[in-house]
Amino acid sequence: MTKALVIGNWKMNMDYVEAIHLVQQLGVLVRGQTLDHTEVAVAPPFVDLRSVTSVIEADRLPVVVAAQHVHSADAGAFTGEISVAMLKRLGVKYVLVGHSERRSLFGMTDAVVSDTAAAVTQGGMTAVICCGETFEERELDRTTEVLQHQLQIAFSKINTKNCDRVVIAYEPVWAIGSGTAATTEDISLACKAIDSAIPSSWPTKPRILYGGSVNSENCGSIVENSPVDGFLVGGASLKADDFSAIVGITNACYRR
Ligand code: 13P
Repeated sequence: MTKALVIGNWKMNMDYVEAIHLVQQLGVLVRGQTLDHTEVAVAPPFVDLRSVTSVIEADRLPVVVAAQHVHSADAGAFTGEISVAMLKRLGVKYVLVGHSERRSLFGMTDAVVSDTAAAVTQGGMTAVICCGETFEERELDRTTEVLQHQLQIAFSKINTKNCDRVVIAYEPVWAIGSGTAATTEDISLACKAIDSAIPSSWPTKPRILYGGSVNSENCGSIVENSPVDGFLVGGASLKADDFSAIVGITNACYRR
């Protein structure tokens, strides 16, 4: 059976002291639930990773760690960047690749997303490849085309033997931080477009997460009524009880 995956993307929030506090609170809440088929991950800022992994190890919390970004090169003169090997050494399991904020605010192109996804999967971690259309693209009925384009490029350098190290996050740009999540119809259509971009040579189909204004009120319906395998949660992951509620509801409603 496939396991659902719920990742909390903390974005640029939580200094290392706050991060320790949040992961401890979350760990206690998550440990109190019987999560038979849901994996929980948090994606803190880089400077928190060591502290968060230490707390998880010391307290044996049922939470894994994700990074929000990485550079595709092995090492070198890339001031301000972090390598795949550095994250791997810290015990990071998942890396977000091509989040829409990286694309729109920091000039991350499809080609860079492609190199990064290849480097992460080759380096032994799982790439959470983010895709999603803008409001204008949606209005022009271009969602399918945009998702296929983004993903075909993102997948193009991934070695087939690493295809089980890929997760896709569908995050419509217009839904992120807006308070309005996509409908289950929107999400189901996007999942079809995503499926059609998966190379036919891949023996396994990646899990698909939904992200964009996910909360404890809408997550149950989304996971029940669309083909997603979990969530990439922003704002609602910054409070332990909100995030833990999303995890519990996902576990209860997810049946694949
Ligand atoms: P919100 O849940 O705050 O809309 O953010 C979604 C997101 O960008 C997660 O990566």
